[in-house]
Amino acid sequence: MQKQARAITTNQIGIHPNLEKVVSRHLATSSQKPFSEHTQVAFKQTMQWLNGWQGPIILDSCCGVGESTTNIAASHPEAKVIGVDKSALRTDKHASYAADLDNYLIVRADLNDFLRLLVLEGIQLYKHYLLYPNPYPKSAHLQRRWYATAVLPEIIKLGGQLQVRSNWRLYIEEFSKALDIAQVNNTVYEYTSDSAMTPFERKYWLSGQQSWQVTAELPTA
Ligand SMILES: C[S@@+](CC[C@H](N)C(=O)[O-])C[C@H]1O[C@@H](n2cnc3c(N)ncnc32)[C@H](O)[C@@H]1O
Repeated sequence: MQKQARAITTNQIGIHPNLEKVVSRHLATSSQKPFSEHTQVAFKQTMQWLNGWQGPIILDSCCGVGESTTNIAASHPEAKVIGVDKSALRTDKHASYAADLDNYLIVRADLNDFLRLLVLEGIQLYKHYLLYPNPYPKSAHLQRRWYATAVLPEIIKLGGQLQVRSNWRLYIEEFSKALDIAQVNNTVYEYTSDSAMTPFERKYWLSGQQSWQVTAELPTA
């Protein structure tokens, strides 16, 4: 039997008071951090796999074991789908979720670097999924949440339809607020479906939790 997923507990009440300041600072600067060696290698392999592909590209960020990546690849045969996760423990389990499709790739890499490399390469996305990123619910950990990291500008520059999903409503509301600050129109809603797309989604729904989503059509850079 599957373990019950605990609901988010946080010491934060409402939108973080520093959100606007942090997001505005990241939007005004660009990260100069050196790229990690392993992500550069993974990025090169990804570019080789894309092999100059001119059709639609979909990114499944924080793909975990890559179940969502195969689901997306199956429903978008016209696209090439890249699932990225930093955890070898998760990506190594992909074999149990693999599908007999040749339009997807699972990559182990740190998205803090991978997203910057994609932008530098001039890649534009058709769709970008970010499903159940680690929420970091402690107030002091605001800057670990994707919308409050230094790669928010890259997330926006990559373009395409962004879909971010979480079982923590405040995460999605803060993501929406960060997009507002970046002057990107977005929509927040409760996400429901007949079938779960990822293991975390399944776990949350089985324990009676809801999912929230923010969606944005990011402008082409
Ligand atoms: C809560 S899990 C969700 C996994 C999957 N999307 C799902 O719904 O089953 C969050 C995932 O984000 C990945 N992650 C966190 N920070 C990352 C980073 N900087 N680069 C790549 N993956 C990261 C973790 O390794 C983990 O697999």
